[in-house]
Formats: sequence, structure tokens, C-alpha cells
Amino acid sequence: MQIVTIQNLKKIFKDKEVLKGINLEIPENSIFGFIGKNGAGKTTTMKSILGLLKVDEGSIKIYDDIVTFGENKTNKYIGYLPDVPEFYRFMNAREYLKLCGEALGLANDIVVKRTEELLTLVGLANEVSRIKGYSRGMKQRLGIAQALLGKPKLLICDEPTSALDPKGRKEILDILSSVKNETTVLFSTHILTDVERICTHVVFLDEGVIKLQGKIDEIKKMHQSNEYIIQFLDENHAKKISKRFELDLVNPIEVKVLVQKLNEVLAYMIKENIAFSKIEFLEKTLESFYLEVIQKWSRFYHFSRKNY
Ligand SMILES: Nc1ncnc2c1ncn2[C@@H]1O[C@H](COP(=O)(O)OP(=O)(O)OP(=O)(O)O)[C@@H](O)[C@H]1O
Ligand SMILES: [Mg+2]
Repeated sequence: MQIVTIQNLKKIFKDKEVLKGINLEIPENSIFGFIGKNGAGKTTTMKSILGLLKVDEGSIKIYDDIVTFGENKTNKYIGYLPDVPEFYRFMNAREYLKLCGEALGLANDIVVKRTEELLTLVGLANEVSRIKGYSRGMKQRLGIAQALLGKPKLLICDEPTSALDPKGRKEILDILSSVKNETTVLFSTHILTDVERICTHVVFLDEGVIKLQGKIDEIKKMHQSNEYIIQFLDENHAKKISKRFELDLVNPIEVKVLVQKLNEVLAYMIKENIAFSKIEFLEKTLESFYLEVIQKWSRFYHFSRKNY
């Protein structure tokens, strides 16, 4: 079942069309990576899902309920961590979550129980200091706890890892990954390796247009490479093979070879007694698909402009 269904969503700010007719379906229990460079329209889409922006065309549904600007009936399903979360800096984590729980209308005993569960989940259970002394990573972790307080069906996090170092990013990704059985997760980022690490689905948004969406493993299969990397023990061997077969050198000791040519290259290496340390299939990364997809669209766009 789809938890979010977006149809032909358009948003114009002044005279700029920021979302140009987006169609997006987010299935329940997915971890959905929302990728796009700065200004692509990620925050605009997320705020539209939350009913915080008035859209110009199209519709958004949470399950079967239509999202309406300024109304919050669909937000009972959603927990939200904004890109720049605001906290009461003089409070500690427990005081802050208690306040958020009261704002949600939760009973006191439920807030207390949930607070302890969530602080344990985000690794802040033993933290007694005030929020003003928190690192960025701690603030993001507290922000996720706040977003999960009402046991949402959908957790929306706007660039939760962007400002963090690798350790902080890993902590956030581990938390998002660990809640996947209880809630669907939508998070935006421009860090493709983060998406590759935990997401089941991905969408590429570029200049207000969705260029690709789907299950990550299916996308990877669709764009599978047909190349191998051969790694040599000796730079001279790499150079020799690269020259003879007109192969690209990936680095001084590795060449890239198409599967159709592999047997021929290997036969030559055996004949010439050339040793190798590794031959491996070249797995494409999400980053390389992203660049491919964006470039393909940009070529198409220039072609269309030239011809029409
Ligand atoms: N309130 C606003 N008024 C005018 N223009 C806006 C407003 N909000 C966003 N925009 C414009 O809409 C475009 C998309 O912005 P958005 O914040 O959705 O991008 P984003 O993908 O979240 O980018 P980032 O990675 O920088 O957070 C940008 O060109 C931005 O300048
Ligand atoms: Mg943004």
C-alpha cells in the first residue's frame, strides 16, 4: 500500500516554477531516499506533503486522505525533522520531549515511557546536559526522537545527515534504518552513499522534475555495468595491456575492460605470463547512475530546445 501518493504536483514561487508536475508514490515500510542538488525542490516537496505550503496544481494523498494547505488532519500520520530544527536550548532532552508530548496531546505516562524508549534509541538516555551544549549530531538525534514521539506512520527528515561528519552520519543512518519496521522513512540528501547504505527506494529530483524513481536494487539491475576491472601487480603490465587493447587505465595498476573483450585479454595475459592480483565485476554506484541520468536528461533538454 502507498502511504504517500503525489500527482502532478506544481509549485510556483513568484515567477519560478519550482516543482514542475511531480508524480511520486511512497510504499509503506520503505526507506525512501530523496536525492537532489541544492535548490532541486526537496524541501518544497516535503513541506507540501506536510500541508505547510499552498501548491499551485496537483494533489497529495496520505493513504486516502487528501493533504490540504493549512489543515493538519493528515499530519497525525507524520513525524517531521526540518532541515534546521529549532529547540529550546535551555532545556534538557527529557524536558524538551515532555513539552513536545504535551503539544501532541499525549497522556503524561505515555510521554514518560515513550521518552525513555526514544532517548535509548537515539543514544541520549544518559545525557543530562542542556541542549545548548549539544553537538550537531546530538541535535539531529534529538530531532528524530521528537519526530517519532507520536509513533508516526511516516517519518520525514530533511537532510538529517548533511552537516555531520562520517561518524555522526552513520549514527543517524543506523537510527533511521532501525525504525523501518514501525515507520516508513522519507529522507532527503545530496549524499548518495547515505542512500545506498540504507534505502530501499530512491527518487532523483532535478530542477523540479523527477528524473528517476524506484527500488534501488531494480535500478541497479537496469543500469548494470558490463565492465570488469583487472588489477596488475606491476604498473608496466597495466600500461602494456591498456595500450595493446586500447583500455582505460583506472589508476596506474588497474584497467577497465568490457565483458566481450575479457577472454581475449586474459588469453593474452596467460600467453605473455602477465600476473594479476584481482579481476572483479565493476559494480555501478548510485552516484554514477545519478550522473548518467542527469546528463541524459540534460542532453535531451538541449536537443529538444535546439529542435523545437
Ligand atoms: N519561500 C520561497 N520563496 C521563493 N522561492 C523559494 C522559496 N522556497 C524555496 N524557494 C526556491 O525554490 C527552489 C527549491 O527550493 P528547495 O528549498 O525546495 O530546494 P532543496 O532541494 O530543498 O535545496 P537544498 O538542498 O538547498 O535544501 C529554490 O530555487 C529556492 O530558491
Ligand atoms: Mg532543502
